[in-house]
Amino acid sequence: MIKIKRLVALGILTAMFISPFPLSVQNEKQALALDNNLGLTPPMGWNSWNIFGGNINEEKIKQIADAMVTTGMKDAGYEYVNLDDNWMANPARDENGYLIPDPIRFPSGMKALADYIHSKGLKFGIYGDRGVTTCCNIPQSGSQGYEERDAQTFADWGVDYLKYDNCASDSNLQAGYEKMRDALLKTGRPIYYSICCWYFAGPWLVDCGNSWRTTGDITDNWGSITRIIDENSKSAAYAGPGHWNDPDMLEVGNGNMTDTEYKAHFSMWCMMAAPLIAGNDIRNMTDATKEILTNKEVIAIDQDSAGVQGTKVSASGELEVWCKPLGTDGTTKAVALFNRSAAAADITVKWSDIGLDDGSVAVRDLWEHKDCGTFSTGYTANVPSHGVVLLKVSSADGAIMYGDVDGSNNIDAIDYSLIKMYLLGQISEFPASDGKLAADVDGDGQITALDFSLVKQYLLGVINKFPAQK
Ligand code: GLA
Repeated sequence: MIKIKRLVALGILTAMFISPFPLSVQNEKQALALDNNLGLTPPMGWNSWNIFGGNINEEKIKQIADAMVTTGMKDAGYEYVNLDDNWMANPARDENGYLIPDPIRFPSGMKALADYIHSKGLKFGIYGDRGVTTCCNIPQSGSQGYEERDAQTFADWGVDYLKYDNCASDSNLQAGYEKMRDALLKTGRPIYYSICCWYFAGPWLVDCGNSWRTTGDITDNWGSITRIIDENSKSAAYAGPGHWNDPDMLEVGNGNMTDTEYKAHFSMWCMMAAPLIAGNDIRNMTDATKEILTNKEVIAIDQDSAGVQGTKVSASGELEVWCKPLGTDGTTKAVALFNRSAAAADITVKWSDIGLDDGSVAVRDLWEHKDCGTFSTGYTANVPSHGVVLLKVSSADGAIMYGDVDGSNNIDAIDYSLIKMYLLGQISEFPASDGKLAADVDGDGQITALDFSLVKQYLLGVINKFPAQK
């Protein structure tokens, strides 16, 4: 592998590969895209469901808003206070067809609650459903056929975030979610659009939502965490600024896992550039829970502006190494040494596995808050069972170079423009590629969306070989 001191112009590349589709297709779709300038880094906040279920009222939510400020959650970056299901009256609409809150539990109304949350410098999120009822099954609670009216109601109340669920709905998933996207845009109020569709339903999600749930509901146990990590990783290439895979809200602090497991859960959500929506009772949390949720060094991994979702780069049984490139110069990465097994074990990350030159690589442990030194070929740590050692590594000797298609040993704008022209079909071969289909990484003679996502990950250093090169 050719090596250079600096990896330049990765920003251009990121922009180019942000969608797995050729640019002509992107342009065609742009008119329909969700263009609300929100979620440029994954959203951070709190949601009522994991801890309270349907048992919510305005007093509780106001106390949560207070706690967001007094516990340091707001200071750590959490901003949305989100109601989940069961805020509506039963039946959910008034005689004119407008959604109304439960008059006993939310006697002051939603505008007043939004005002209170805004007065704390926080943002207000609400919950709806694309079908005829929400998942709590309250009559008239779904937005099907009421999309524009409900979006306008939410905007009038001062809603900043909509989680839009998938219960009691017809099979036309894409049309249903696009209707609410368009209705939200029509209100003119910037409202983060959180699609709750329970699986990666297709690349159209990138243009439809600011994030989309990739799995069924999370539960507070280790099996749920590992299942979700695996599922959420399948669509890693579709994540980026403004559009994220959502592996569901956090269970940190809800009591059924150990603090080691909660640290691993939180670390992996940050590695996957996931929305960080706390799901515990932040009015009463232990110091350990607070330290996990407010660890700014770990949160910075999630919030890195390049917005690349980290992925697994190597594994030996249940011992895994995950990497998330940070920034755009290729020299800095977050690394998670992830131990799924029932016993503590040593795990090693090799620099060559994460696209870094051997040489002088500085390692910092983000849970210990300490610099570990510099290491020449890799780093080994002992990782507890169901635990993660989370590192930030920076190479003084530079990144391994990918994409030197003209053979000049420089990655420059011309390389990227050649790759772009090739993918757009404007040239038929790279100078260095002997006329092969350069992006046909699975070797089936076709360039597909899957290929593009692999090319993107390869060029960003997230994976170090294509399937066809094994
Ligand atoms: C679905 C969603 C959950 C939660 C509940 C509420 O199951 O996936 O996150 O919103 O509905 O009923």
